Amino acid sequence: MKILVVGGAGYIGSHMVKRLLQGGAEVVTLDNLSGGYRDAVCGGTFIYGDIADSSLLSRIFSTHAFAAVMHFASYIQVGESVQEPAKYYQNNVSNTLNLLDMMVAFEVKRFIFSSTAAIFGEPQYTPIDEQHPKNPINPYGRSKWMVEQALGDYDRAYGLKSTCLRYFNAAGADPDGEMGERHDPETHLIPLVLQAASGRREQIRVFGRDYDTPDGTCIRDYIHVTDLAEAHWLALAHLLAGGDSCAFNLGNGNGFSVQEVIDAARQVTGKPIPCADEQRRAGDPARLVADSRRIREQLGWQPRYADLDKIIADAWRWETR
Ligand code: UFG
Repeated sequence: MKILVVGGAGYIGSHMVKRLLQGGAEVVTLDNLSGGYRDAVCGGTFIYGDIADSSLLSRIFSTHAFAAVMHFASYIQVGESVQEPAKYYQNNVSNTLNLLDMMVAFEVKRFIFSSTAAIFGEPQYTPIDEQHPKNPINPYGRSKWMVEQALGDYDRAYGLKSTCLRYFNAAGADPDGEMGERHDPETHLIPLVLQAASGRREQIRVFGRDYDTPDGTCIRDYIHVTDLAEAHWLALAHLLAGGDSCAFNLGNGNGFSVQEVIDAARQVTGKPIPCADEQRRAGDPARLVADSRRIREQLGWQPRYADLDKIIADAWRWETR
């Protein structure tokens, strides 16, 4: 079974490559290294390149017979997507369609797509299930929702089967310490908190203490990146068994506030972690928690590392490697 992993040198993609290799799959990684690292790819074949390059894609698809494609190569910064929407629509939508069209041309009919909780916008209720209205409030979320909608049309017209996995807050690192989060610039809470713990950063800025939550800071649903990779593995098995297109929300169903994350990180690291209070960050909903019953029931997904301390401990091992 040969799988094309687009964006396999990035944070989540590199954990996926490891999971696929452990499962006995043959892996071809395609990555332009704009946000990933060559040394994060722990095996298989690596191809440097971009999904905007149709002739490269054509060469890859004519050389390899893929059972499925997994697509992790997106821009992910909400704030940047507001400043530079063209960058997001070009890569996350247009280049993704280029990839899908190549799949259709070469009759590769299974696709696993990294979607996001950002497609829901400001939640109307929590926990958020798959039926929750889709009302993205920034170009990043819109770019992902556009692709989800296109995938429905590609299934109806071309029989391309897809699974959309809507991540809540991916966090943690490979429990064996082989790979972890390396965004540049880093914008995510847990790695920033741990950089403040290790001294790489002076302090962690808390964006708003006046939200309608018990301690006033925003609540998020953190999911271990290895549990995310496992969900992709199950989604792949589902499609390979002839399963229908579907979408799943992926989180643990437990919300932790920014302050709770900082407190847990102080416990795990034994470091003081200085904080500074800041204004709210634009576009942050107060509470984002997933209802992931569908993937548990339909694919049998069971998170192994749902404990926040474990998520932080693995990320800390990576930070202090
Ligand atoms: N936060 C801080 N200080 C920081 C960084 C973050 O207080 O230095 C807060 C944020 O305001 C937010 C929480 O920590 O309340 C989590 O922020 P992250 O940036 O880690 O994650 P987000 O919830 O903003 O974003 C994640 C994904 C996005 C996705 C979004 C879905 O990273 O790609 O969930 O809404 F779009």
